[in-house]
Amino acid sequence: MEIKKNYKINEILKIFDENNQGFVYDKNSITNDEFIKYVCVENQKPIGYLVLYPKSDFAIKDKYDIKIKIPNNSIYIWHLITKKGYERKGVAKTLINYLKTKYSNYNIYSIVDKNNYKSQELHKALGFVIVDTFKKAYKDTLDTYDLVKLSVNNLKNFNF
Ligand SMILES: CC(C)(COP(=O)(O)OP(=O)(O)OC[C@H]1O[C@@H](n2cnc3c(N)ncnc32)[C@H](O)[C@@H]1OP(=O)(O)O)[C@@H](O)C(=O)NCCC(=O)NCCS
Repeated sequence: MEIKKNYKINEILKIFDENNQGFVYDKNSITNDEFIKYVCVENQKPIGYLVLYPKSDFAIKDKYDIKIKIPNNSIYIWHLITKKGYERKGVAKTLINYLKTKYSNYNIYSIVDKNNYKSQELHKALGFVIVDTFKKAYKDTLDTYDLVKLSVNNLKNFNF
């Protein structure tokens, strides 16, 4: 597996359609240049991807009702989806570990639906901790989300 930036965007759109499982929104972010797409590739084929919003104002942009202040040196995982049929093979782990290395002096945030068991388990296993909880209606139902942050102790410029 290797990670490529903004690779085969048409394939990424298909991965979104096939496997968002009702937990990932805003398909347009995939084709929007404000977002960076990191793609997990095996034999030239995308098998998962992550959409990164590389700025700290994500909570305002996506209208989260959160109580905490987000530090300036923060980035946010807008999408994370593994291709259907490729789950539980370490694809999401590879994508997040890539971010950990590439953005080692940033706070890395994500949100996880309380009902998204797989994603809750994934974030826990990779060292994310819950820093806030809020409700939001992405579609018609009001759901509860955890704002999670990667807990690492080697951050430069780290500020709470
Ligand atoms: C959530 C999702 C991204 C996980 O991707 P993945 O590539 O299957 O995850 P990985 O194989 O890297 O899993 C790494 C670890 O996460 C945990 N994990 C992942 N899926 C899990 C599951 N179904 N049950 C329990 N733990 C799970 C495990 O600890 C796993 O390590 P292990 O396999 O050695 O036990 C994938 O299921 C997906 O695309 N779901 C639909 C879209 C979505 O909900 N995205 C997240 C939005 S926040």
